[in-house]
Amino acid sequence: MKIDSKKLVVAAAKARLGSVSPYSKFKVGAALLTKSGEIIGGANVESASYGLTCCAERIALFKALTDGKKDFVAVAVVARWPGGPMPCGACRQLLAEYAPKAKVFIADSDKLKAVQTFTVKELLPLAFVFES
Ligand code: THU
Repeated sequence: MKIDSKKLVVAAAKARLGSVSPYSKFKVGAALLTKSGEIIGGANVESASYGLTCCAERIALFKALTDGKKDFVAVAVVARWPGGPMPCGACRQLLAEYAPKAKVFIADSDKLKAVQTFTVKELLPLAFVFES
């Protein structure tokens, strides 16, 4: 299956507009692509109790999973940051569990055409997962 990384990065940039980040003002958007071609977006949501903040990647993943979506082939993450935002460790763990085969596209919202591509395995080698 040919993955349209540009389309997914644009979807993540659009999802980023939904960011609720009154504390850091750091807006992050993520978009997941399923095998069947569906795109599910999400953005970071912050709390006054800072530790409750949830990253864009996990919001997108939780939305998708609780809507019954699976078989993720790619995820794009976009923020205004040189080279784009690298997913945090917690998000890498969740991606390793629920989107292990996904390509990860990272881009700066000011430079959407410059996309960095990773595998989930590259981002989290030797992940803790219960294999079936
Ligand atoms: N954040 C994400 O949404 N994804 C990442 O990969 C890194 C960090 C958010 C969490 C918080 O709302 C803000 O960026 C600053 O850390």
